[in-house]
Amino acid sequence: MHLLMFFRHAACLLTGLLALGSMTGCGQGQDPVERFLETHWQDPLPPQGTPPAGFSALEASLSPQACAQCHPGQFEGWKESLHSKTMGPGIAWQLKLMSQEQGNRCLRCHAPLAEQKALVALDHGWPNAPDRSIPGYVSRDLAHQGLACASCHVRQHERFGPPPRIEPVKDGPHGGFRISQAFADSRFCASCHQFPQDGPRIAGKLQEDTYQQWLASPFARPGAGQQTCQSCHMPDRQHLWRGIHDPDMTRKALDVKLSVVGQGGGDYEAVAEVRNSGAGHHFPTYMVAKVELLFVRRDRDGGEHALGRQLIGWQVDTPITREMADTRIPAGEKRVFRQAFSAPAGQDWEVELVLRVAPGEHYERIYRDSLRQADRLPEDAVGLLRLALANVEGARYELMRVRAEAGPARPPADRRAAIAN
Ligand code: HEC
Ligand code: HEC
Ligand code: HEC
Ligand code: HEC
Ligand code: HEC
Repeated sequence: MHLLMFFRHAACLLTGLLALGSMTGCGQGQDPVERFLETHWQDPLPPQGTPPAGFSALEASLSPQACAQCHPGQFEGWKESLHSKTMGPGIAWQLKLMSQEQGNRCLRCHAPLAEQKALVALDHGWPNAPDRSIPGYVSRDLAHQGLACASCHVRQHERFGPPPRIEPVKDGPHGGFRISQAFADSRFCASCHQFPQDGPRIAGKLQEDTYQQWLASPFARPGAGQQTCQSCHMPDRQHLWRGIHDPDMTRKALDVKLSVVGQGGGDYEAVAEVRNSGAGHHFPTYMVAKVELLFVRRDRDGGEHALGRQLIGWQVDTPITREMADTRIPAGEKRVFRQAFSAPAGQDWEVELVLRVAPGEHYERIYRDSLRQADRLPEDAVGLLRLALANVEGARYELMRVRAEAGPARPPADRRAAIAN
């Protein structure tokens, strides 16, 4: 319900920008992309129903492994991507504590097909789990496969895809396919990466706001520099969806400069300028990921001194009620982090900035808090919770090291002033 309302807002905004005010019919579903998405991502999705009579078992199957027989490239990418892992232990332990109604609210984004919801209901013994046998085109593990190919591409057994890059074959498998421009439009992704305007907020800000952040960014402006969610996250239509879990992708987001300024009296300030030049939304976009900035002074004689630690990210408490700080960097913008320190006169040293990424930092805290109450949770949920914590901790990595531009071993700027003192 809320979702449909949101699409209307977003589409009006976009049409307004593009068509410069020829707004007749906005809100009536005039825009074909908007009209398509309202049905394509309706909540809940209706079951696929009986496959067309001419379909082979392979053509009817909703399983990604069936699609892989003819679309191996997309399958290889998807299998590596986080979209194939949306039903991992992180959500699984929580589903064990939920009612069907609560659970289905999560599944709308994590396993949206009606057939997947039915399988989850069977697994959890939820009251209105289907009692009919599972149809042949539904593999028993379909829910565990997360955001399967069919979630984005199949409705009522019909395939939907972007405009083809090669001339479609006549009488191709699965009855051909229907083309929609929506697949190349950022609004396609907004369905799950953007809360509606009346969704939950902290400090006035929507908890999930990626599409709106993009819309406000230079990347959304029509022209040579325009980039959509797909052009950055699915280059050449690859199905990898690399994001903050991927070091190479994350390095593309940032330009980092470090300098050291002498303040006199052996006091200095390290100044890190971090620009989000390559992410089409805030860096990082949600409250989930954090990037640590560690300032380190290295002495020539091998001594190493941690000078301080600062964070890029939206810091929110675990009950998700209070904002501690928000140091995310909007697309195209720069944030400056300053670290004061002192150093003994007459010694050679240099300052280095180490950037470390904790892609699921917010979940780490939630999982640790929950483990403290493990005695109140069912045993199978605790096992999954431990696994979820290990996964999310294991996803941390070092992103890059940056040395002060003043150059090594030179107490920079005004060494004389420092020595004179
Ligand atoms: C999260 C949604 C999503 C999932 C899951 C997904 N796709 Fe796609 N797929 C897309 C989008 C969006 C495009 C169009 C990208 C573009 O136009 O830049 C696309 C494009 C395609 C194309 C056209 C490719 C081309 O080169 O022209 C095929 C075929 C395809 N997908 C098959 C699959 C298969 C098979 C799977 C599972 C292994 C899958 N997709 C999973 C969203 C998805
Ligand atoms: C509007 C779509 C949406 C809904 C509804 C939703 N999620 Fe998510 N969820 C996401 C997105 C997008 C991410 C990825 C966040 C990121 O990359 O930082 C995510 C990530 C997660 C993760 C971390 C990744 C993982 O799989 O371990 C967990 C756990 C999770 N969600 C649990 C839930 C639970 C529990 C619910 C229901 C209470 C829920 N989600 C409802 C969209 C949604
Ligand atoms: C027996 C082989 C076969 C199977 C199985 C199969 N496909 Fe296809 N698919 C094709 C072929 C061939 C085409 C190109 C059809 C054409 O050109 O008319 C195609 C086209 C598509 C397109 C349109 C691509 C575009 O350019 O827009 C999508 C999307 C798609 N398939 C998704 C899927 C999904 C999802 C599955 C699994 C649920 C699947 N297919 C299973 C052979 C197959
Ligand atoms: C049906 C819901 C849904 C749709 C549609 C969807 N996503 Fe996602 N996406 C998710 C969920 C849930 C996750 C979290 C996966 C996890 O961490 O387990 C996710 C994860 C991601 C990530 C990984 C981020 C990271 O943390 O590294 C990227 C990037 C991404 N999505 C981009 C896209 C793009 C681009 C599109 C549109 C083509 C799209 N998504 C469409 C639900 C969706
Ligand atoms: C100009 C390229 C670009 C565009 C456009 C873009 N992204 Fe990203 N995105 C990135 C880069 C680079 C990262 C890794 C750094 C980061 O996390 O911000 C990323 C990260 C992400 C993540 C990981 C989670 C996080 O905390 O940042 C998600 C989810 C995501 N993008 C979804 C989207 C969606 C949805 C859209 C469209 C509304 C989109 N992106 C548009 C480049 C882009």
